[in-house]
Amino acid sequence: MLKTCNIVIVGGEGDLAFRKLYPALYSLHKESLLAESSKIVGFGRGKFTPEKFIANMRKWTEESDYVNNVDDESWASFSERVLHFVGDATDPKDIKKLQKEMGDGEIVFYLSTPPSIFAPICKAMGEAGAVADTTRLVVEKPLGSSRESFNDINNTLFETFEEHQIYRIDHYLGKETVQNLLALRFSNIFFEPLWNRHYIDHVQVTVAESVGAGGRWSYYNESGALRDMVQNHLLQLVCLVAMEFPSRNKADDIRDEKLKVIRSLKPIDASNVQTLTVRGQYTEGSVSQKLVPGYLQEKDALPASDTETFVAIKAEIQNNRWQGVPFYLRTGKRMAERYSEIVIQFKPVIFKFIDIDPNAINNNQLVIRLQPNEGVEMKLMNKVPGLSEKTTLQNVGLNLSFEEAFEEHRSPSAYERLILDVTRGDQTLFMRSDELRGAWRWVDGMIDGWETVQQKPQKYKSGSAGPDDALGLLIKDGRKWQDYE
Ligand code: BG6
Repeated sequence: MLKTCNIVIVGGEGDLAFRKLYPALYSLHKESLLAESSKIVGFGRGKFTPEKFIANMRKWTEESDYVNNVDDESWASFSERVLHFVGDATDPKDIKKLQKEMGDGEIVFYLSTPPSIFAPICKAMGEAGAVADTTRLVVEKPLGSSRESFNDINNTLFETFEEHQIYRIDHYLGKETVQNLLALRFSNIFFEPLWNRHYIDHVQVTVAESVGAGGRWSYYNESGALRDMVQNHLLQLVCLVAMEFPSRNKADDIRDEKLKVIRSLKPIDASNVQTLTVRGQYTEGSVSQKLVPGYLQEKDALPASDTETFVAIKAEIQNNRWQGVPFYLRTGKRMAERYSEIVIQFKPVIFKFIDIDPNAINNNQLVIRLQPNEGVEMKLMNKVPGLSEKTTLQNVGLNLSFEEAFEEHRSPSAYERLILDVTRGDQTLFMRSDELRGAWRWVDGMIDGWETVQQKPQKYKSGSAGPDDALGLLIKDGRKWQDYE
């Protein structure tokens, strides 16, 4: 029997709420994963009338890629649980009023607001007596722009909530393919014996986006690719690839192992930042055959800026499993394609019994496609059929497409998974304070390094694979980035 759990979206008339949260909540409702008595509250300042609010909710839900169909019957029952509450979330009187209207039950407060107002909101919740031990708080990035500012924000949360009540979202962790990383590694016997420096040559993590920074230029310009993407999403992927087996499938056991990876990252600072990182900034170019403006020509852009829209990093994990295995990371806006993938490049076989040109042998590779065309591909060498005297080998992929393999299953959105886990009180897919502190420490080193050595972003054309030096980062190690296939 599901417990009543009222979900209050503070900032409930905002973009994130309409685009991601309400559609996710609708899907959970449709799948009967919310208790019938649970309310969904859109807490806002009254930008919309109640009619307009609900109409907007429906419009965005219908437009969501993850919602198959919005039928009148389930929409009617969904809207019965929706409460559009107009008030000031920093005023304890309004929170009390809301509690009265919601009635009994556990409460999840989802702060879909800028972090600058987390402090007064949490204080008001505390003063209103709305925070019980079962009350949960969900917060979104950006949680700070450095270790210090993260600590400041985090400490304001701790004045009202405890760690077990705080759910820090990294939406990548909610993606099906990202959750599958641990399942894949730990539930297939043939990966673990090979998953180490003896057999793996290097790892590549690419998160390429075709969109630009337009529309949120001012926010992005303060952040840049390193803070916006690497500090959270890419580092979390690295943790899942590199971590040891957790002793139990419990939130803290998994997060302990991820933390160890973060703490083992080789520091990057002024002494090595130029050899280990590449920064880029996009210029005008064409993406999907459409001409797009450069970063400095986007709407609201300043005439000059040294913010990076692309970053490539050669990271190293200094522990027994990974010593000497580079993890090459790259992410950028306005790349040719939108795709995220992880490539595990294995070492060559040592004794080649077939006498062929060694350059014709491609070493085994495991490609984990996170988005789009979600799936896993194992590249294996095979003999090309034929009668010729000389054996010819070819690298062929054993290709698993999730869409085909799980045709019968709907793939839920990241937010569905994450919100559901909050209602269930499961923190596995949420970041703990110490993970974030460690991630910021690593990133701060790079940012300070860039400043000290005055490392500016190199220009790259929109629609390209990033700046030339990003290719050079691997070429100088005798390696190459995997092309998107
Ligand atoms: C967000 C970043 O966290 O992730 C955005 O702030 C980025 O800049 C987005 O576009 C990418 O997410 P996804 O799910 O589209 O890969």
